[in-house]
Amino acid sequence: MYTQGLDIPKGETSIPLGSGESPEAARFDAIMAADEKIEPKDWMPEGYRKTLIRQISQHAHSEVIGMQPEGNWITRAPSLRRKAILMAKVQDEAGHGLYLYSAAETLGVSRDELVEQLLNGSAKYSSIFNYPTLTWADIGAIGWLVDGAAIMNQIPLCRCSYGPYARAMIRICKEESFHQRQGYELMLSLARGTPEQKAMAQDALNRWWWPSLMMFGPHDTKTDADGMKSQHSEQSMRWRIKRVSNDELRQKFVDVTVPQAEYLGLTVPDPDLKWNAETGHYEFGPIDWEEFKNVVAGNGPCNAKRMKQRRAAHENGAWVRKAALAYAEKRAKRQAAAA
Ligand SMILES: [Fe+2]
Ligand SMILES: [Fe+2]
Repeated sequence: MYTQGLDIPKGETSIPLGSGESPEAARFDAIMAADEKIEPKDWMPEGYRKTLIRQISQHAHSEVIGMQPEGNWITRAPSLRRKAILMAKVQDEAGHGLYLYSAAETLGVSRDELVEQLLNGSAKYSSIFNYPTLTWADIGAIGWLVDGAAIMNQIPLCRCSYGPYARAMIRICKEESFHQRQGYELMLSLARGTPEQKAMAQDALNRWWWPSLMMFGPHDTKTDADGMKSQHSEQSMRWRIKRVSNDELRQKFVDVTVPQAEYLGLTVPDPDLKWNAETGHYEFGPIDWEEFKNVVAGNGPCNAKRMKQRRAAHENGAWVRKAALAYAEKRAKRQAAAA
């Protein structure tokens, strides 16, 4: 899930559906009411535009930073088959970043600006990628749990009100489903392997379970004992950017994933986890929101490392951008001369 911490820009907490003040605003309202799509050239409230730019770019940054914890295992994959799968998966994530930066650009912001916000630390990315990948089993756990949680979050986004974002999400979800399956299949191989391999799979589940549940973001249907409640969900729901609450998505994820862990013969690291036959859902223990806040604030185990590596990659790629620009200029000149 790459959309945690949905942010509404400060001072825009009101609900500016168009309210019929102008024909454009009335049209925006009508499109919302009919559950149709807003397209780039349509009029839209400034808060809607800003919210989308923030969410889509945060999502794009997450795809790009998310390549790091897995990319550093490509050279250590245990077989050619696993290496090919992991390379394809990591490349997909780069592609997701591209679709999403392109979708954000249709809202009138440049990719350069968005990348600058990531590099100077003013834009966020999903906190899940600030955890380390310690063993090969982590690659399985990430595919199974992190991509699994991402799908849960992203399927409703395929129906979001902004056309370019919704269409990008349809492609992304198809690829995420491959990511989830390859992760689960990797976990299955380890779980059926030697006792050491099974222990490695259990250890990865122990470390990735809670951060995966945090990926859905703070509560938005109730306030936790510690006052954790998402600030932004209500407005995004009205704009049909968000369609299902964080808590509902998290519950769905737990309900789907617990039987998968049982099939693997692994134990979910939650002593409070139990099936409730009346509600038809699993009940689970409290989430450590202090940890979440701490990682979002930049103090996770790998925040500094991830940013350092991203900045270095950006600097090392400067010659590619320069060459691409020079080529584009040369081509434009040639075309102008021919015309
Ligand atoms: Fe992705
Ligand atoms: Fe993925």
